[in-house]
This record gives sequence, structure tokens and C-alpha cells, in this order.
Amino acid sequence: MNANPKLADLAPAFDVERIRADFPILSQRVHGKPFVFLDSAASAQKPRAVIGAMSHAMETQYANVHRGLHWMSERTSDAYENVRDQVAALLHAESREEIVFTRNSTEAINLVAHSYGRGILKPGQAVLITEMEHHANIVPWQMLRDSHGIELRVAGITDSGELDLASFASLLEDGRVGLAAVTHMSNVLGTYNPIARVAALAHAAGAQLLVDGSQAVVHRTVDVQALGADFYVFTGHKLYGPTGVGVLWARRALLDAMPPFMGGGDMIASVSFERSIWASGPTKFEAGTPAIIEVIGLGAAIDYVSAIGFDAIAAHEAALTGHALSRLSAVDGLRIVGQAKDRGGVISFTLEGAHAHDVATLLDRNGIAVRAGRHCADPLMARMGVTSTARASFGIYTTHAEIDVLADTLVRVRSFFQ
Ligand code: ALA
Repeated sequence: MNANPKLADLAPAFDVERIRADFPILSQRVHGKPFVFLDSAASAQKPRAVIGAMSHAMETQYANVHRGLHWMSERTSDAYENVRDQVAALLHAESREEIVFTRNSTEAINLVAHSYGRGILKPGQAVLITEMEHHANIVPWQMLRDSHGIELRVAGITDSGELDLASFASLLEDGRVGLAAVTHMSNVLGTYNPIARVAALAHAAGAQLLVDGSQAVVHRTVDVQALGADFYVFTGHKLYGPTGVGVLWARRALLDAMPPFMGGGDMIASVSFERSIWASGPTKFEAGTPAIIEVIGLGAAIDYVSAIGFDAIAAHEAALTGHALSRLSAVDGLRIVGQAKDRGGVISFTLEGAHAHDVATLLDRNGIAVRAGRHCADPLMARMGVTSTARASFGIYTTHAEIDVLADTLVRVRSFFQ
């Protein structure tokens, strides 16, 4: 198993200590030990640039957006709308009009399930997901199935945790799948899915493709046009930005054809008691006062990661992942769950004789934060034959030394349970 050695060769250019200095929380001690934060897949820490941009906006430039004719509202609307341009650039979208702000990835998927699912898909059509989806990309489709007569199909994965493309293709064969919804990177296995191939299969069968980019957008350049996706969603808080803001990108023709998700202020062109006329473009999907400060924080986060550059980020994380896979595989009794060839810095594991929660608790006593449990992916846990795992996940600030601390501590945890 190899986490892209070509990228790993580029890693020395990356100054991780300089990056760590931008994240105030990382200098804390936990239980008297240096804080080793290996839970970025759940939520990433925030650099000063994001914290500062949000406080600066509240201190100097804040009013409601799209509503006021006064100077302050116009400045705030500009700041908010500029982030739409930044997101469009981040995703290599054709147009800013394809970017909808939501609360998080979950809301973005629910938006598609409600609007595209109920408004465009017809009862009798199917939605195709995979065995490695997060609950956020399962449950909205089950709700659609139960309320709208949609069939829900599930493509299999292999024992190594890769998407079984033959299974995926066979479930598309009858042409009844209207939408496939697939994660770009598994939050449990670290697997990257071959989205361009998945998109080609889906399109050849007449289906659209939604990609859950919650994990992937943090680690790699995303080009929604090159991927061939039709919908792409991600959340701000995993991208070093704040909670409370997420993104739905969709092809403009799809957004135009879709009915609104929620009704209210801002999403209309006009309202009378007889009828309302929807606003055009993404505004149609942004009812009510949006997460203004959070959107501004997301803009600062995008500036921050863009200044570092995704090539450098991917190289750093590939080197870390390679190091972690080799150090963790050498721990007696440790099983890595997910052995995909194309994988990133999310590593789930079990330790013989110890429950994942106990492993995480002992790691925590040593200042190390990992996630343990089912990771909002119960069906995937069942598929991989585990009831829970511990999961270490990396960010731009993770160091090789922290991975050594994790591996050394796991050796001690293992002997404790033996
Ligand atoms: N989806 C997040 C995770 O995997 C919360 O931890």
C-alpha cells in the first residue's frame, strides 16, 4: 500500500512548523501532555486568519446582506458574495451562479434529495449509493425512497475498501437510476473513489452524479468539471473554516430546473398571497438570513489553504499517510481497516483485545485526540466486519513526530490490554 510516493517526494518544501504557528489551539497541553490532534476528519482546527476574519467582520463590517441600501449592508453583501467567487474558483466551477451556501454537507445533500429528488426524479426511478457512504449520504435517500417511491440501490465495495465498479455498473444497467450519490473520499477508510470513471458510468446510463466531497476537498485539488460531477457538496468546518456553512455546487441547468428547498425571504423575486415567483440562480436556495459571518470565515479559510497550495498540502499528507501506515502496521495486534491503493490521511484501525473506545480513552490520557466508534457509517462497519474502530486523521498541521507519538503510545496501550 502506498500513499502516492511521487507526491511524497515533494514533501520537504512544506514548512509544517510555520503552519502550526498559525493555529493557536495546537500549543495547548491536554492532560499535561502536548496536544496531538488527530481528529481533523471530524472537524479541523482553525487558523488565526479565519478567527481574525470573522471577528474583524463583526467589529468593522457587519449588517444583513442583500436587504439594505445602506453602506454597511452593501459592504457586507460584497464580502459575502465575494466568497461565492472564491468557492467557484476552489471547485473550478464554470460560474459563481452554481454555488449555493448551505449549513453543511448534510444540508446540501438534503437539499438535493428534497428538491431534485422530489421535483425531478419520478417514482419508480432509483438512487444508487455505495456501501462506504456516511449516514448523510444514506438517510436522505432512504427518506426519499419512503416518501416518493424511489428505489434505493447500494453498490458493493471490495474487502480492501475500494468501490466495486462492476457492482456499480451492473446496478446502472437497467437505466432506471436517475441519480448516483458517491463519496469522493471515505471518512472511515480514507479511500479516494475514481470519480471521473464513476461519472462516466453514471452518465452513460442516463444518471446524474452527486459527489460528497466533505473529506476530499480538504486534501486535494477539486475540479468539478474535470471530475464530471453534476452535484458536489462540502462543509466549511473540515476545511479549516467555521461550522455552520457548507456548499452545494450544481450545474446551472440543474439548479434552474430544481424547485426551491425552503421558502422564505431572499429566495423570491416577488410574493403575493396568490403566488410567489422564485429568485433565479443560487439565491432561490438561500431562504432567510444566511450564515454571513461563517461565509466570510470560509472565504478566509479558502484564502489560507490556497496560499499554501493543494499540491503542497497533498504532498505533505501523502508523506504523513505513508509514514503512518508503516508505523501503525508494525504495532502488534493492530489491524488497519481499509487498504485502498488510492487513499488519504484517514486511518481506521482496531487493536486486538481492546475496544475502540478504550483505545481512544487511553490515547486521550496521553494528549492524543482520535475519533472512536462507528463514524456515522454503520453499514460500512458491518461490511468491514467491525463494530467500531479508532480513527486517526491528519490535517495540514500534522507532523511525523505526532504520528510517532501515536504509534509508540499504541504499543503501550496494546501491552496494557495484553
Ligand atoms: N463526518 C465527520 C467524521 O467523519 C463528523 O468524523
